[in-house]
Amino acid sequence: MADQTPTQPPQPVSHPLFARFYARVLARNEPAEMRDHRVALLAGLRGRVVEVGAGSGANFAHYPTTVDEVVAVEPEPYLRDEARAAAASAPVPVTVVEGVADALPLEDGSCDAAVACLVLCSVPDQGQALAEMRRVLRRPDGELRFFEHVLAKKPRTARLQRVVDRLFWPRAFGGCHTARDTGAAIAAAGFEIVEQRRVKAPALTPPPVSVQLAGRARLPHDPSAV
Ligand SMILES: C[S@@+](CC[C@H](N)C(=O)[O-])C[C@H]1O[C@@H](n2cnc3c(N)ncnc32)[C@H](O)[C@@H]1O
Repeated sequence: MADQTPTQPPQPVSHPLFARFYARVLARNEPAEMRDHRVALLAGLRGRVVEVGAGSGANFAHYPTTVDEVVAVEPEPYLRDEARAAAASAPVPVTVVEGVADALPLEDGSCDAAVACLVLCSVPDQGQALAEMRRVLRRPDGELRFFEHVLAKKPRTARLQRVVDRLFWPRAFGGCHTARDTGAAIAAAGFEIVEQRRVKAPALTPPPVSVQLAGRARLPHDPSAV
């Protein structure tokens, strides 16, 4: 894994083939269950939301109208253009900006919620990305909503995930890693997970990405904690 330290400048993200495949094939033909997961992920949000790695904007249509503004951060140029097109018909104002999770282009404490949907698999440094989400969330009530495919509990699937990550998966799928224990990373970054559930992946989901975790996390009440 090509991890970067927080002191290095963020690497540009360009995956032209994967971006087209994701936007034109995967996101456009999502099964109904995935749309339901997106609705559940965003339900009840309000105020100003940052969506990190928004891709082609597949979540935009599902934001509740209690949200005043979505700042959608997307580093990949093709996906950013697709996201801008999706933003035009969103039910809430969406501003799509260039940027990476590792250095969010937002002020400290400026957002009521952060949304991470199928993105913490692809960032170079989960700890840095989560620290950035913490930084931009408003205290004390800012919350993180997440929907991510994660490391399997079953040893056989976990072994398969590690093998595909080593052999080809990140190169083939835009930097995506299948064997990340994202729930643990969220807790290690100092979030308090208030709700999490394993989600059954839609039929035909390839086994390495079939274990999915959805939930909500909030900032610790003691600001000096981790
Ligand atoms: C599988 S796509 C998911 C897109 C979208 N969140 C969705 O739910 O459809 C992964 C996304 O992560 C983005 N990404 C990759 N590296 C990133 C980084 N360092 N910071 C922010 N986003 C990143 C990709 O450009 C892509 O949009």
